[in-house]
Amino acid sequence: MEALEPADFERAARARLPAETWDFVQGGSGAERTLAANRAQFEQARLRPRTMVDVSTTDQRLTLLGSPLSTPIGIAPVAYHQLFHPEGETATARAAGRAGALMVAGIFASRTLESIAEAATGPLWLQLYWLRRRDALAALVERAEAVGFRALVLTVDAPRIGRRLRDARNGFAVPAHIRAVNLDPSLMAASHRADAGSSGIADHAKEQFDPTLTWADLAWLRERSSLPIVLKGILTAEDARLAAEHGVDAVVVSNHGGRQLDGALPTLSALPEVVAATPPDLPVLLDGGVRTGTDVALAVALGARAVLIGRPILWGLAADGENGVARVLDLLKTELDDTLALLGRPRLADLDPTAVVR
Ligand code: FNR
Repeated sequence: MEALEPADFERAARARLPAETWDFVQGGSGAERTLAANRAQFEQARLRPRTMVDVSTTDQRLTLLGSPLSTPIGIAPVAYHQLFHPEGETATARAAGRAGALMVAGIFASRTLESIAEAATGPLWLQLYWLRRRDALAALVERAEAVGFRALVLTVDAPRIGRRLRDARNGFAVPAHIRAVNLDPSLMAASHRADAGSSGIADHAKEQFDPTLTWADLAWLRERSSLPIVLKGILTAEDARLAAEHGVDAVVVSNHGGRQLDGALPTLSALPEVVAATPPDLPVLLDGGVRTGTDVALAVALGARAVLIGRPILWGLAADGENGVARVLDLLKTELDDTLALLGRPRLADLDPTAVVR
């Protein structure tokens, strides 16, 4: 059957993936309240369509941190794409290029930065966690810059890993043949075994993530790279203001897809206060629960310059590799085009909060 919406890939992916990998993808932390709330906010918001507007052409192009993009729909950083397809991140990068979409590669990518950069034809950003081994981070940043990555995305909502009960119950560990190849194996060993009542992901983070990260540490990253710095995991006006004060180049309103602090604000609810607290020239992105073109329009109308998509990309990758990811992006772009036309706001710049009732 021809896929007509990203959810069609969800069914296909579920049928293909081992049950514990499916739980790793779909799950959140704790009681999964934030995971559900991310979706609920989009489902409850409504659009206010305007009529009698010439919508013969719609335009979803934009420029983000200097890179031209065909769409505000980008790919969120996710570890280990080879869990979903043997080609891993290179398949995802080729699909992003076909769609003219931004791809954020994860620090725990299962393909080398060099091979991802070679596969990409569009902009790539690299996501980082604050590792205790700062020398490993420094080396990674240098390599990323050398092969053409255009920004560094520091994830700031993960000083430790949220209690992901599905992974703990499954004793989920990263299979031995799938590796975070951009880091020394000695730094990754804990990911590949799970202690009783835990997961390899949680045990690894406990061992390797540095929970002492504070605002003062951004200077360290600045010294090592001339790339723009993006903070991912901002949910409050207070932190948005601090990010701006510390010269950060963009922020991502994110709760890690409901995988970190359970009970945290859903991202669509957090977006307006973050936007209000940041200067207009500081791009605010959003991720978490974006599943349709309507969701993209809602986020952009409430002030997001772009959105990142996590799980639906993995559904496409698991179902049909590069082509599956390309199709998911294509469907979302088509849905957004339709939304812009039917909403009577044909360009991204026409979207503003008056387009939304909450
Ligand atoms: C993630 N996410 C994530 N984020 C990050 O900064 N580094 C990472 O390595 C990962 N890994 C990861 C794995 C899996 C399986 C998922 C589902 C998510 C979070 C991701 O970047 C993003 O914030 C959310 O996935 C967005 O929510 P949706 O679109 O999945 O609802």
